[in-house]
Amino acid sequence: MMREIFLLILIFSSIKSITSKNIIKDHIKRGSSLSVDDDSDVLRSPDNSYTCGFYGFQSNAYWFAIWFTNSKDRTVVWTANRDTPVNGRGSKLTFRGNGAMVLTDVDGTMVWETNTTSTDVNKAVLLNSGNLVLKNQKGEILWQSFDYPTDTLLPSQTLTKSKTLKSASRRGSFESGYFVLSFNSINVLTLTYDGPEISSVYWPSPNPGFDVFAYGRTSYNSSRIAVLDDFGTFSSSDRWYFTASDVDFGIRRRLTMDYDGNLRIYSLNESTQLWSISWQAIAQPCSVHGICGRNGICDTNVLQSQCSCPPGYKWTNPTDLSRGCSPSFNPKCSNSTKFGFLEVPYTDYYGFDLDYKPRVSFEECRELCLGDCSCMAFSYRQTGDGSCFVKSALFNGLRTPNFPGSLYLKVPIAMETSKPLSILTNSNATCGEVITVMVGSPLMYQKHGTKVKWIYPFSFVIGVGVVEALVILLGWWLFYRKNALVTNLEEGYRMVSSQFRGFTYQELVKATQNFKEEIGRGGSGRVYKGVLADERVVAVKRLRDVSEGGEFWAEVSTIGKINHMNLVRMWGFCSHKRHRLLVYEYVEHLSLDHKLFSTSFLQWQERYTVAIGIAKGLAYLHHECLEWVIHCDVKPENILLDGSFEPKIADFGLAKLTQRGSQGSQFTQIRGTKGYMAPEWASNLPITAKVDVYSYGVVILEMARGIRLSSIMVVQGEEEEESALMRFVRLAKTRLQNEEMESWIEENIDSRLGGLFNRKQATKLIKVGLSCVEDDRNKRPTMGSVVQALIDWE
Ligand SMILES: *[C@@H]1O[C@H](CO)[C@@H](O)[C@H](O)[C@H]1NC(C)=O
Ligand SMILES: *[C@@H]1O[C@H](CO)[C@@H](O)[C@H](O)[C@H]1NC(C)=O
Ligand SMILES: *[C@@H]1O[C@H](CO)[C@@H](O)[C@H](O)[C@H]1NC(C)=O
Ligand SMILES: *[C@@H]1O[C@H](CO)[C@@H](O)[C@H](O)[C@H]1NC(C)=O
Ligand SMILES: *[C@@H]1O[C@H](CO)[C@@H](O)[C@H](O)[C@H]1NC(C)=O
Repeated sequence: MMREIFLLILIFSSIKSITSKNIIKDHIKRGSSLSVDDDSDVLRSPDNSYTCGFYGFQSNAYWFAIWFTNSKDRTVVWTANRDTPVNGRGSKLTFRGNGAMVLTDVDGTMVWETNTTSTDVNKAVLLNSGNLVLKNQKGEILWQSFDYPTDTLLPSQTLTKSKTLKSASRRGSFESGYFVLSFNSINVLTLTYDGPEISSVYWPSPNPGFDVFAYGRTSYNSSRIAVLDDFGTFSSSDRWYFTASDVDFGIRRRLTMDYDGNLRIYSLNESTQLWSISWQAIAQPCSVHGICGRNGICDTNVLQSQCSCPPGYKWTNPTDLSRGCSPSFNPKCSNSTKFGFLEVPYTDYYGFDLDYKPRVSFEECRELCLGDCSCMAFSYRQTGDGSCFVKSALFNGLRTPNFPGSLYLKVPIAMETSKPLSILTNSNATCGEVITVMVGSPLMYQKHGTKVKWIYPFSFVIGVGVVEALVILLGWWLFYRKNALVTNLEEGYRMVSSQFRGFTYQELVKATQNFKEEIGRGGSGRVYKGVLADERVVAVKRLRDVSEGGEFWAEVSTIGKINHMNLVRMWGFCSHKRHRLLVYEYVEHLSLDHKLFSTSFLQWQERYTVAIGIAKGLAYLHHECLEWVIHCDVKPENILLDGSFEPKIADFGLAKLTQRGSQGSQFTQIRGTKGYMAPEWASNLPITAKVDVYSYGVVILEMARGIRLSSIMVVQGEEEEESALMRFVRLAKTRLQNEEMESWIEENIDSRLGGLFNRKQATKLIKVGLSCVEDDRNKRPTMGSVVQALIDWE
């Protein structure tokens, strides 16, 4: 046996040694070449960090590429022949005598060449930056791969007017996809879905009026240049700056336009050779346009595989959901087909509004769509006196729980679906003349070849679907209304971004009538109710112990950008002499502790919904914010409930504001509330998001049990004291192991519910709670997986 293996090794190594006649090169001279047939026929950068050569993918497709030598999967940063792979045998890269570097396939066809024909270039080298350059005798660079980026920008490589980053079409593929990072016509860096049928800007928020403004960007600098430096800072001529979370020298990074439409910075861990995300542009995957294709719907409530097809539609290509959905009926208008509608709740498609009518009844809106052959669906919202959007095409579908309306899909009346939600009959279909009505300013649409370049979807702004857009707009509007485009802002005002602003101290004194009505008191300060000049009701928090200097402003503006339906929104702040105040949205109802430990307790279904909502809010803070935020003080007192019992987490971000340590160490003092604090606060372990997971676990166990487990001590056995929480967890775990959970659940769920609760949900909640309060934080789940687990049983 050993002999055979030895023989095999010998055979293989001899094959290798026949082909590996080349040693790894540090340059290619004019007249020489690289061959696809030899794996070791490659070019290395002097510090060995990048390799350039033929890169094979699957069986017989090869690319002339540059990759990281020391990343586990040999991450490719550039390819010459992106959309035309060459054969794995006989293909060649030749530095021809005439100065051109050409890539030829096995049959001799030229697939790619540089523009250096008849120049005096004599040498190709791969620089330590990952740039492949062609130089002449004098050392002048006449061609460089940095001028032709594919989907990745390396540190020091510039993105300019003529360059774009284009995503790959799929995970692990090199082929070009449809997501593009580029400077737009008004000099602002944008992310665009540039598909075969439509082109649609999705980031910054698609409104040319406020994107520049909201992000502090400018459209006046026409140099159109952006670069990521070695420190991890990205800066662009449109005044857009950001830093990787691990900002420092000595870390290898790349900025990649990913196949899923998100733009990310990845950092390489040299010891594990794996990449981790250290920044990303888009928090909510559904904000990426085109992600679910034509007719497809992206669901913000689901963390994975968010795409779905509306009723009556099926996947165009079930293995590639980005191809969208196709109707399983004939959508053609004809005299013989009668059409009806299917309601799809909480859903909207952005853009492609044939018509928009405010203040119309549902009936009128329905008739509008029925009477127009090019209408595919209409969206109707009860907001105002009813708004009606008639759609000519269904792109960028989005389902989000807080969308105040429904979409009505036009389908043949005879069509059977498993779930006909609300079929309306059509009495007289007429095929009228098709007139495309441009809603909003015509400037917002640009004809772009045959496809409509959709820049400013009106419904996008009207829809609360993307809460952020609305909030930004509202803030923007409030700002403009107040300042009427005055550029010299009053002293003391400092616009952070449109939805968020600085207040003067006098303003807040007035709003709160000199801090008259105290509505809360906590570790970080007292909270007062107030009414702003624009009649918004707010909660004003006076902070104690705030760090000095400009940091306050920076931190607060970060918190101000965080926006999620389960997080209390911050409207602004005030920093005046020694006063530090934060201005929050006012949440009408009481905090969770009042609805849990008192006589007016929540019913089971409300509790479960609240548990999911809190998890979503925390998951957003931990995973989706641009800056990772740990709450550090999750407890029922910090969870507010609005009129419909939607939870809103208060006081996030304060840990950073009030406790920032001097050097590096984020937390110099123990934070949090006894009973809800993870054990690692007591040890010397670094504090991670898992402390919030622990506190969350305590909260949901208390919600299930209906009493304050965290603060009760019980005497156990002889004189040993144990907290009610510990005992609860210990007993539950024993029962779980013995598979006696059911009877235990009956006895231990809040008795005030009188047995009225969902057993499956209760079991799930307890199990999730138990896993969250594990002493070993590595055993605790992430908030993202908690959301997923709870939703599965909703
Ligand atoms: C090749 O093209 C690049 C980019 O278009 C240009 O900057 C460069 O000067 C060209 N080189 C030659 C030798 O023409
Ligand atoms: C435009 O941006 C470039 C690059 O960021 C910068 O060097 C230049 O000073 C800017 N010009 C103006 C007028 O701000
Ligand atoms: C790299 O990964 C190892 C193992 O996961 C970890 O211990 C180390 O801290 C990481 N290094 C950096 C710089 O993140
Ligand atoms: C549909 O009706 C219109 C007017 O009533 C008529 O002109 C047209 O020929 C009809 N089309 C078909 C396919 O029957
Ligand atoms: C449908 O037909 C009826 C009578 O034939 C007419 O009064 C009504 O206006 C028509 N509706 C539409 C939308 O054309």
